[in-house]
Amino acid sequence: MSVLVHSPATLSNLGCGFDVLGLALAAPYDAIRVRRSAAPGVRIRHLDPYNLPTDPARNVAGVALLALLAALPEQEGVGFEVEITKGIMPGSGVGSSAASAVGAVVGANAVLDNRFSKMQLVDFAMAGEAVASGARHADNIAPAMFGGFTVVRALEPAIDIVALAAPPLWVAVVHPQIEVKTSEARKVLPATVPLGLAVRQWANVAGLVAGFLTADYELIGRSLDDYIVEPARAALIPGLAEARRRARVAGALGGGISGSGPSIFMLNRDEATARTVGAALGSVFAELGIAFNIYVGPVATEGARVVSEC
Ligand code: HSE
Repeated sequence: MSVLVHSPATLSNLGCGFDVLGLALAAPYDAIRVRRSAAPGVRIRHLDPYNLPTDPARNVAGVALLALLAALPEQEGVGFEVEITKGIMPGSGVGSSAASAVGAVVGANAVLDNRFSKMQLVDFAMAGEAVASGARHADNIAPAMFGGFTVVRALEPAIDIVALAAPPLWVAVVHPQIEVKTSEARKVLPATVPLGLAVRQWANVAGLVAGFLTADYELIGRSLDDYIVEPARAALIPGLAEARRRARVAGALGGGISGSGPSIFMLNRDEATARTVGAALGSVFAELGIAFNIYVGPVATEGARVVSEC
């Protein structure tokens, strides 16, 4: 039996919520076929142009599946054949590695009669994400798994994720074609934070969560700002300040760096505004002579899911 899973792109951090907040996008997504095999181990094929490693120990989906296999009784003799078609460009900052890791374990769980809980699958997927970013964090994994708006309240002593419905929102993302490695973008972060800045930051996190729960768009807009991480990373993304300025003029509620970059996201009330904002974001990079892609789409209510079985 094999299943085909679609696993969505995600925004992590959402401005003020470094390593904690996340949001699932309806598109783009990775398509991952998982087939149960009697031959132990994991075999991966990539049906996309990105030249990613297919050695399971070096592939985010492979590492996640090896973690899942390690949780099965050895005598069961289970393995997986995996075909990955990435719709999400690697290194774009919209949760490409998390989508592959989550999609793979959701598919594997489906061919194993769903014996693992979603929280266990998050744990397996995080092993894959750690390979990509050099750190264990679940702020892309959580929305890719649960959909909507997610809060990673804790990873230790147990994974504690709060999955919430997001109000109707349209997201505009610009992906400038520059390389920002998550592992490098984490090295520029401050080791300590002055208390005054921390107070402003957690006030915004509280405001943002309240804004999502009450569908208060104005509150969402004024709570997104990040006083700690974005200032340290801004130098890695040319055009960031101008992109934010033009997006606000075009009607965006607010936004910031998507994950560790280089993408920039903006949240919007409706599709028409999101499209105008997308064009405004693109205009900045066109003027800078940097190639870019624009994604415009609604927030996804669902996370990774099986779309067909055969
Ligand atoms: N929270 C992570 C970061 C997301 O900003 O480094 C990137 O994977």
